[in-house]
Amino acid sequence: MVVISAFNEADIAEAYRIFKTSRPNPWTYSTFEKSALNDFSLVAKENNNIVGYVLLSSVLDESTIEDITVDTQHRNKGIARKLMEASFDLAGKMQQQSIFLEVRFSNNAAINLYRSVGFELIGERKNYYDTAVAIDSTTQATQKNAPAAPRENAYVMKKVL
Ligand SMILES: CC(C)(COP(=O)(O)OP(=O)(O)OC[C@H]1O[C@@H](n2cnc3c(N)ncnc32)[C@H](O)[C@@H]1OP(=O)(O)O)[C@@H](O)C(=O)NCCC(=O)NCCS
Repeated sequence: MVVISAFNEADIAEAYRIFKTSRPNPWTYSTFEKSALNDFSLVAKENNNIVGYVLLSSVLDESTIEDITVDTQHRNKGIARKLMEASFDLAGKMQQQSIFLEVRFSNNAAINLYRSVGFELIGERKNYYDTAVAIDSTTQATQKNAPAAPRENAYVMKKVL
């Protein structure tokens, strides 16, 4: 059974591992930790193992989904939907009026997920996302003469609670 709860300090390292495996340009550990330990973020556990999480932030009565990720072996089992529904319950209890998010144009799985739980498309942000950074495999330095990586547009979506 999947259980949804607030993050404990002890959950952060494993959640960050899941985050890093799903992102070309992951945030730093400390940025992730700060977001995970706020009052809105939630973690999903099955048999006490972390299988996914959702990170939210809030300003006044508006929340933002900063990230949602389910570990690759546990996808397509309804865990992201559970995390979203638990977030709506929590945000409602915290007097939030609406939830916003940005999502890459190419991320069909996430776009379908958001639509299926009631988010509507309200706008676009041009060149919002980095794509993979060119790294020199011997020096680990970004190649000085590498052409600028193309950037990707984002959809902006909103759900009224
Ligand atoms: C997007 C993601 C969180 C979905 O997690 P999940 O637990 O597999 O999703 P669920 O099983 O709860 O699926 C809920 C709905 O999402 C949509 N969906 C999920 N995976 C999908 C896929 N591969 N293709 C198309 N739609 C998909 C469907 O509408 C699905 O509803 P349905 O099962 O009734 O068709 C997961 O694929 C993931 O972690 N991706 C990498 C991280 C990421 O891109 N996060 C979003 C950042 S904006």
